[in-house]
Amino acid sequence: MKWNAVTAAAGLIAPAHALLRFGCSRLTIQRLDPLVTPGQNPSPHLHQIIGGNSFNVSMTYPDHDLPSLSTCTSCQFTEDLSNYWTAVLFFRARNGTFKRVPQIAQAGMEGTNGGMVVYYMSDALFDTAQRSTVTAFKPGFRMLIGDASYNSREQARDFRQITYTCMENQASRQPESIGFPKTPCKLGIMANHRFPTCWDGVNLDSPNHRDHVAYPESGTFESGGPCPASHPVKIPQILLETVWETSAFNRKEDWPEDGSQPFVWSNGDSQGFSSHADYVFGWDGDSLQRAMDAHTYVSAPMLTSQSIAEQNKCVVKDMVGEDFDSWLTELPGGNEIF
Ligand SMILES: *[C@@H]1O[C@H](CO)[C@@H](O)[C@H](O)[C@H]1NC(C)=O
Ligand SMILES: *[C@@H]1O[C@H](CO)[C@@H](O)[C@H](O)[C@H]1NC(C)=O
Repeated sequence: MKWNAVTAAAGLIAPAHALLRFGCSRLTIQRLDPLVTPGQNPSPHLHQIIGGNSFNVSMTYPDHDLPSLSTCTSCQFTEDLSNYWTAVLFFRARNGTFKRVPQIAQAGMEGTNGGMVVYYMSDALFDTAQRSTVTAFKPGFRMLIGDASYNSREQARDFRQITYTCMENQASRQPESIGFPKTPCKLGIMANHRFPTCWDGVNLDSPNHRDHVAYPESGTFESGGPCPASHPVKIPQILLETVWETSAFNRKEDWPEDGSQPFVWSNGDSQGFSSHADYVFGWDGDSLQRAMDAHTYVSAPMLTSQSIAEQNKCVVKDMVGEDFDSWLTELPGGNEIF
C-alpha cells in the first residue's frame, strides 16, 4: 500500500491511533525555546508547543524531570509528558502586516485545540507488522531537526523529510515539497517533521542538539536502512504533522503581486527551508518502551487515553507577555523577512 493511502486510512477509518499515532492539543504559544536558548525569555522567535505542562523557560537535565514535574499533558496518552514544538506560521498581507495562521485538528480528532499529530514507529508507516525492535529514548534525551537560519533548498537537504503537503482535504498527503507550496491550498498546509532514527547510544544531547543522532547510513528508515557504526542504536521514528489552516488567506488578490506566496515562519522565513522542530523526551517510566515492544498497529492498550476535552484543559501560563494574535506590524521579536 502507498504511504498516502495508509495515512488516509489511519486518519479517516481508525479514529484512535495506528502504531503510536495520537493527537495533542496546544499547550501554549510563546516566544520560548528551552532547548536552543534555555533561560532566555523571550527567545528569538515564536513557537507552538504541545505536551506536558512542566514546559518552562529552562528545562536542563537532570534538574528538570518532565514526568515528575508535569501534572498533565495536552496529548492523548497520559504517559506522554514530553514536549514537542515548531515555529508558528504567519500570513503577511500586502500592507505588510502579519496575522497568525490557526492550526486545525485532523479528521477523527475534531475538537482538539490546535496542536499536532505525533507518530512513533519502529518501521515504515505502511508496514503494519512494525516488527523491528527499537530502543526508546532515555530520560533527559532531546534533539532538534532543521535549522532556523537555513534559507536555501541545498541547506534544507541536510535533513531528510522535513516537508510540506498542500492539503486539498483531510486525506491529502502527497506530493510533499521541501519549500512552502507556491499556490493556495484549499484546506491548509501540513508541515511534516521526521526526526533521525539512529542514536550514538551515549549522549542525551549534543552542543548543536543534532550530532548525537543520525540518519541510516544507506537507504532510509522506510527501507530498513542500517544505522551507521557511529550511531548504532535504532530509535523510534518520530513524525510530527502540523496542519496550518491557511484557507482563510487564499484570496489571490491578497497574495503578493510578484506571484510569490504570502506565508512566513515566525523566524521570518518566507521560503520554508528553515522548518525545524524540537523534542524533549518525557514519557513516564518505561511506558514508551513497553508500547514499542508491543508491536501493535491500530491500538495501544498498554497506554492510558484521555479525552480531547481533558487534553484541551492542559495549558501553560503565558511567561512572555506579548501579543501574537492581532494584525501585527512586525513578527514577534521583530524578525526580518528572508
Ligand atoms: C518555571 O520556572 C520557574 C523558575 O524556576 C518556576 O518558578 C515556575 O514554577 C516554573 N513553572 C512551571 C510551570 O513549572
Ligand atoms: C492590512 O491588511 C489586512 C488584510 O487585508 C487587513 O485586515 C488589515 O486591517 C490591514 N491593516 C492596515 C493597517 O491597513
